[in-house]
Amino acid sequence: MSCKKSILFVCLGNICRSPAAEGVFNSLIKNDSAEELFIVDSAGTYGGHAGDLPDSRMRKAALKRGYDLTSRSRKVITNDFDIFDIIVAMDDSNYDNLIELAPTIEDRDKVCKFADYIISYDIDHVPDPYYEGAEGFEYVLDLLEDGCKNLIAAVK
Ligand code: 4NP
Repeated sequence: MSCKKSILFVCLGNICRSPAAEGVFNSLIKNDSAEELFIVDSAGTYGGHAGDLPDSRMRKAALKRGYDLTSRSRKVITNDFDIFDIIVAMDDSNYDNLIELAPTIEDRDKVCKFADYIISYDIDHVPDPYYEGAEGFEYVLDLLEDGCKNLIAAVK
């Protein structure tokens, strides 16, 4: 049995928030020499961007902070509940969709909200930056950096 923790970050389109969360998380565990302890992926509840790279605005904002986002968008599937230990929703709508998708009661317990790990900001969700200006993407990255740090500390 593997003792790795597998974590799936989920947003709506899997082109802004969750691929950025994946990139930030991967960077933090790399700096921590803890890469071998985790399997990390991201997905979206909406499959309309499947196969796409992250949104160019998010890629640009992330790269400025040293995160090179190269994952391809995919839709979350029921089988993800067999693969992942922790499934992290970016907002309440993502959370509700994941709870609905969970095949069993036990699988529902794998779903949590990213904002539960945000401690430096008083916010209960990671806002969708898709229709926002550049500052929306910076704010999402601020939230993700804070939450990923605390998530790693919580699951390690
Ligand atoms: P994400 O942002 O859920 O953070 O990836 C969005 C990306 C695309 C759309 C909405 C939100 N969309 O409507 O296409």
